[in-house]
Amino acid sequence: MEVLRDMQIQGTKVPHLVILPLPFQGHINPMLQLATLLQSKGFSITLIHTHFNSPNPSNYPNFNFEPIPDGLSDSQLWTEDPVKILYFLNDTCQAPFHDRLSRLLSDGPVTCIITDEIFYFTKAVADQLKLPRILLNTGSATYATTTASLKLLQQNGLLSITVGPLCKFSPGSSNSLLTQDYSCMAWLDKQAPQTVIYVSFGSTASFDKRNVVEIAWGLANSDQPFLWVIRRGSIHGHDQVELPEGFEEKTRERGQIVNWAPQQKVLAHPSVGGFWTHNGWNSTLESICEGVPMICSPYLWDQNLNARYVSHVWRVGIQLENGFDRSEIEWAIRRLMVEIEGKDIRERVRDLKENAMHCIEKGGSSYESLDGLVDIIMSL
Ligand code: UDX
Repeated sequence: MEVLRDMQIQGTKVPHLVILPLPFQGHINPMLQLATLLQSKGFSITLIHTHFNSPNPSNYPNFNFEPIPDGLSDSQLWTEDPVKILYFLNDTCQAPFHDRLSRLLSDGPVTCIITDEIFYFTKAVADQLKLPRILLNTGSATYATTTASLKLLQQNGLLSITVGPLCKFSPGSSNSLLTQDYSCMAWLDKQAPQTVIYVSFGSTASFDKRNVVEIAWGLANSDQPFLWVIRRGSIHGHDQVELPEGFEEKTRERGQIVNWAPQQKVLAHPSVGGFWTHNGWNSTLESICEGVPMICSPYLWDQNLNARYVSHVWRVGIQLENGFDRSEIEWAIRRLMVEIEGKDIRERVRDLKENAMHCIEKGGSSYESLDGLVDIIMSL
């Protein structure tokens, strides 16, 4: 680190990192948080990004932004399965990424590329241009264990550190791709402490109409106040949200629905007492970092494993085992928010929060790992 500071003071060119985030909310957030941290350590940052879900340059005035075409059409965005979009982007981004990187290299050296592990096409580009590549796994380490055999990677010296929870390390400016509806904060101010169940299933999960009806009646019958995020495009075949007849009347006094919420602020609000989540890794970490217990409804990928850890290993949440069933939902909300069982779960999540906070303090494991990462980059 001292080397980097000296270079800046002497006006020598500082090491240059090229960052390529995967253009989905749960992947953009940690990547930009990591880039902000590395910039604070003295690196200069170029962010190569797709047109689709491009981050807002005005939030990062010190980064150099380089857009590349991705070939995605509007109709693909609203209708295509997210997994198919990932395959598509891995095909279409390779050539433009190579060209943009070659142009950057003609202007000066690049120390290394840091990219999301799901952008597997970057290996070919890095090999062709003889550039080192560091992968950011935005899921949990336990997921990496099952999918990529952590031990083997470690033995080969390919994996030695993860630097989270990034959301608390460097909240940074907002990376939200969708407009966050802050009106819900005033509504939360009016609710009693720890009474509200916050419901959000992240940026990719989608549901059929039957699921939505069960969720709605589960919330209505629980008699708890709720804040429910229904993202546009998350209900199959329905551009607009249609809720069952009688639901609004029954919940008008204690329910709030938004298209997208300022999630970290919501979870930090004193009136929020529980988070019904799909257990994307960001949501899971954000909930733990605010000491909020969870109800788990995993949708795909690492979310199933995350949910199992939350409910069965750390025991800071309750998993719904039968998909979306109104009686089970109602019962899970009551167990978490009202019953004595919920009190124990809440105490455990507070302990976990404390542990997470220790990790990012000076001398903590994540604090040290970040310095380790800088050392690795400097040795390349
Ligand atoms: C994806 C995968 O689905 C997940 O399995 C993987 O662990 C990370 O990448 P996503 O579905 O987007 O994630 O969920 P998550 O990881 O929870 O990230 C969602 C992000 O959006 C969070 O940072 C959350 O704070 C933010 N968010 C969500 C909002 O800002 N407002 C909302 O209303 C909902």
